[in-house]
Order: sequence, then structure tokens, then C-alpha cells
Amino acid sequence: MPRHFIQIGDLGKDGAMELIRRAKTMKESGFRGHCMDGKVAALIFEKASTRTRVSFDVAVRQLGGTTIFMTPAESQLGRSEPLRDAARVLSRYLDCMIVRTFGQEKLDELMEYGSIPVVNALTDQGHPCQVMADLLTIYERTPDFSQVRVAWIGDGNNMANSWIEASMYFPFELSLAVAPGYEPDMDLMARAKAAGAKITTSPDPREAAKGAHYLYADVWASMGQEQEQAEREKVFKNFCINRELMSLAAPDAKFMHCLPAHRGEEVTDEIMEGEASIIWDEAENRLHAQKAILEWVFSDAE
Ligand code: CP
Ligand code: NVA
Repeated sequence: MPRHFIQIGDLGKDGAMELIRRAKTMKESGFRGHCMDGKVAALIFEKASTRTRVSFDVAVRQLGGTTIFMTPAESQLGRSEPLRDAARVLSRYLDCMIVRTFGQEKLDELMEYGSIPVVNALTDQGHPCQVMADLLTIYERTPDFSQVRVAWIGDGNNMANSWIEASMYFPFELSLAVAPGYEPDMDLMARAKAAGAKITTSPDPREAAKGAHYLYADVWASMGQEQEQAEREKVFKNFCINRELMSLAAPDAKFMHCLPAHRGEEVTDEIMEGEASIIWDEAENRLHAQKAILEWVFSDAE
């Protein structure tokens, strides 16, 4: 059975923390490895990407493999070839599919009909690779996650869901402020709370920001929701992370963002560019976290 990375839970409780430690070691040593020697990974992207595409491409190469980049526009995927057919064919050429798509069920179909590892490079439901990189970024500053409070401020989107999932596997507190009607996956939330995750929710960003060590923002309209942009700008207008919101957080609190950011919407330019911002380290850590993920995927190969 191939090892898939679809969600953080695939790593298991100890495995998730172990992966963060491994990513840190890889980063510190400038690790180059061989676990993908001779292997070819397809980067199948149905949505735009800068960080995920490039960091995965580099990660695969630094582990000895090569990549093929595919989009629906330039393959039969865009001409309604069933995914289950593509999955079976591609599995006969490739060693791994790294996939960015819309519904999570597309990953399920690739796993069901394919026979090689599938890695989740973002869906409408989650972005686990990003949150693993975010956790590495926090771990570098606060190694004891039980001392950490993360405030999620904005839409209850794919990123919010992956933060909720992460709170089941790492002992940080998560305070969410989302606008009514824009809640994250409430089934996931219920499962996380039942598993002992320390999550609080509020419609008030100030409530979530109070005492937080890391304030996290994402765009208000995710990819695929562009037509809702104007409406969402109205709904979320009080959710901008600005100087006032940062002043409610813990002393020396940091600002995080998965990027790309819309300055003047979910965050001010002053906070993006200011001393509290750790967004460039966070973006760099995509590479290191994903090398550790790929190593985990291929550690069970053969
Ligand atoms: N954060 C993130 O996934 O960025 P890209 O959309 O550029 O890959
Ligand atoms: N929520 C955003 C994240 C981008 C990295 C989106 O899905 O567009």
C-alpha cells in the first residue's frame, strides 16, 4: 500500500511531532537526500500556486527525484477524462502525485484508482502541508507547543480546517474568530474538541487576538470564490490584522500568513512589513516541511 499524505492525521500523533523535528534538522543541515533517487513526481495543479509548486519541485529534486508539472488546460483532465482513468494510467508511469484541486473527493478518487502515493497540495477542505510548515515556524521560536496560543482571524476556510486538525495532534491553544456564516468544518471541530483539542471560537477578532502568541491571517476569498470577493470584503471588514489588533496579543506576538496576501484587506502593509511578521521564514519552511513529508511518504516504499 502506498503512503499518502492527505491530512496531518496520516502521520499519527507521535509522527506529526517527529516530522516537525525532522524538518528542522533537515533545514539546519541543508539536507540533500536519496529517498527519491530515480523517482518521478507529477505536480498536478488545478489551481494557481507559487510557493507550493516551487517548493515541492525543489524538494523532490533535493531528494534525488524529478518532476512533471501538469494542469487541466494542458492535459486531458481539462477535457473531461475521468480522474479514475487518469489515476490508473499515471500510476503506471509515475512514483507520486502531488495534487492541488477543488473537492477533497478528487484526492479520494486518485487514491482509490491509483497505486502510487498522493500528496495533498491544497483542496477546498484543507492545506495540511502549509500548516506543517507553519508549525515548524512556530517550533523554531517556541519549541514547547503547550505554551503557544494561535489566533486564526478570518474565514473558516481550508487553512482554518487544517489548523483545527493540527490542534488534535499538537498541544497548542487555537482561538478562532470567524464571521457568522463562514464557519469552518463543524464536524471536524466537534471531532477535534472530542479528542481534547484546546479550541475557542468567537465572532470577535479582538477576543481571539487577546493574549495570542501567533496571529494568523489568510485571504477572505479563497481560490474558486473570486466572485464572492466584494461581499466578503464587507463581511470581514473588521477582521483586518492591524496595529490595534496586534496590541491585544501577547508581548512579542508574531504575525503569520500562508500567502499570497491582500494588503489592506486581511492585514495592513505595516504589519506585513513590520517586526512582528515572520512570513518569509514561514514561506521558506514550506520547502523543509515538504522534504520531511516526502521522506515520510517514501520511507515505507518497496
Ligand atoms: N501558501 C500557498 O500555498 O501558496 P501558493 O498558493 O503560492 O502555493
Ligand atoms: N485559503 C487560500 C489559501 C491559499 C494558499 C486559498 O485556498 O486560496
